Amino acid sequence: MTHAENANIMVVDDEPANLKLLENVLKTHGYTVRSFPTGRLALAAAAQNPPDLILLDINMPEMNGYEVCERLKSNPELLTIPVIFLSGLNTTEDKVKAFQTGGADYISKPFQLEEVDARVETHLKLHELQQALELQNDHLEELVNQRTEQLQVAVKRIESTFDQTLQALGGALDLRDNETAGHSQRVSRYSLEIAQAMHCGEEEFRQIALGACLHDIGKIGTPDAILHKAGKLNPEETEIIRKHVRNGYDMVSRIPFLSPAAQIVLTHHEFYDGTGYPQGLIGKEIPMGARIFSVADTLDAMTSDRPYRTALPYQAAQEEIVRCSGRQFDPDVVQAFLGIPEQVWKRIRVELDSGSQ
Ligand SMILES: [Fe+2]
Repeated sequence: MTHAENANIMVVDDEPANLKLLENVLKTHGYTVRSFPTGRLALAAAAQNPPDLILLDINMPEMNGYEVCERLKSNPELLTIPVIFLSGLNTTEDKVKAFQTGGADYISKPFQLEEVDARVETHLKLHELQQALELQNDHLEELVNQRTEQLQVAVKRIESTFDQTLQALGGALDLRDNETAGHSQRVSRYSLEIAQAMHCGEEEFRQIALGACLHDIGKIGTPDAILHKAGKLNPEETEIIRKHVRNGYDMVSRIPFLSPAAQIVLTHHEFYDGTGYPQGLIGKEIPMGARIFSVADTLDAMTSDRPYRTALPYQAAQEEIVRCSGRQFDPDVVQAFLGIPEQVWKRIRVELDSGSQ
């Protein structure tokens, strides 16, 4: 930034006497002065070495002052340079036009040198303040960007810690529910794989992963005697165990940003044909995350060891999923599932198994 007293001023006038006069008087104030007899020469010089202020005549051959000013203002690098018109044109219309083309001020000829002095000084100071303000704005903007970036990193870290905590909770639920270790995490990852094939959005991904992980959280409230009963459940016991979806929903939906995940918890036992519970929702009434989860859950349940049987091969799970397409499962989700090669599921299982040891 240039201080006003060391300012670099450009004078443009086709009248040599005016140029000389202005140059002399401005130099006595310590300004650096460059004089140009035409607008074309002045524009070229301004582009090379931008001045802090321009005194500009209007009536000149080749290019008049209005045009010079317009060209100057169309260049983002030169846009803020104050232009003071100096002209013998004295109608209101001429003056208005000067301001419309971007002029900062207008001095009528014949001019008083004291007036030129005073106006030059005022506009240089204004320009200086404007530049200082812009610099401060840039600095503030940079500071805000930095802080925003730091905040985003902190939020990501908190989200990640939160997700890990919920995953640990899912793992604890697996143990109590006689599920195979890692069921919640696998179902979560399987669901994400299918969600990707269904072209779900990034925020949906996170909610699907968390919803899948916490799907049976409501079983915390189910008595052990029912949860671990070896034989068939009677109607009352079935009714009690079915309450886990509503209980789970009540727990998770208390956390505002988990409300989409809570929807998955509530609807993870709904069937595509409307025969599921608790609401008997049909088809696309069931949230996408829950429709995806159903397929992932069946895949993992069938291909994992259970207390009463060893794991079934992938082929058996695939056949069951296809068989239940349109009944338990959304046919679109089944199609997306079928498009994913068996190796992908195997890789996820191996990855999670090696990570948990
Ligand atoms: Fe469940």
